[in-house]
Amino acid sequence: MRPFEVADTEPVVALWRAAGLVVPWNDPYLDIERKLTVQPEMFLVGEAGGAVVATAMIGYDGHRGWVNYLAVDGSRRGEGLGARMMAEAERLLSERGCAKLNLQVRSTNAGVIAFYRSLGYGVDEVTSLGKRLIPDEPRADAP
Ligand SMILES: CC(C)(COP(=O)(O)OP(=O)(O)OC[C@H]1O[C@@H](n2cnc3c(N)ncnc32)[C@H](O)[C@@H]1OP(=O)(O)O)[C@@H](O)C(=O)NCCC(=O)NCCS
Repeated sequence: MRPFEVADTEPVVALWRAAGLVVPWNDPYLDIERKLTVQPEMFLVGEAGGAVVATAMIGYDGHRGWVNYLAVDGSRRGEGLGARMMAEAERLLSERGCAKLNLQVRSTNAGVIAFYRSLGYGVDEVTSLGKRLIPDEPRADAP
């Protein structure tokens, strides 16, 4: 497990696409560029045999910690890699004094909710609101 490097860009985007994490309203390349300007050391990749097999984009805003783009390669799921990425996220956030980690999961994604529950996460009874500040245009070469 190590911080993301620019050379990881294509394998990371491919992993996200295969994991179903790329949505039309988020340009993954722009998301990477933005993350490299804020706490880039908390953007982690898991590497095995020279290949990127896991990612986690972690951040601390001074009140809460957040994890986005948690993904494990489809052929490596169920081996504990997702749990290891989350343990490292919790360690990095704890050492920065972060009191609580939040994350958002599509409510239809029962398997991922079960994954987080197994790691001790509970469902907060809140409504998640969002407002887009910068629209990402779909890229012409996006599949
Ligand atoms: C969610 C994800 C990261 C889990 O990674 P993983 O490496 O397969 O998970 P682990 O092997 O570390 O599993 C940890 C625990 O969660 C449980 N778990 C994992 N996936 C599960 C599922 N689909 N349903 C129920 N439980 C699950 C495991 O059984 C394990 O429990 P245990 O410790 O009691 O044995 C992976 O499935 C993934 O990349 N999914 C697609 C991308 C995604 O949706 N990311 C989340 C965005 S919010």
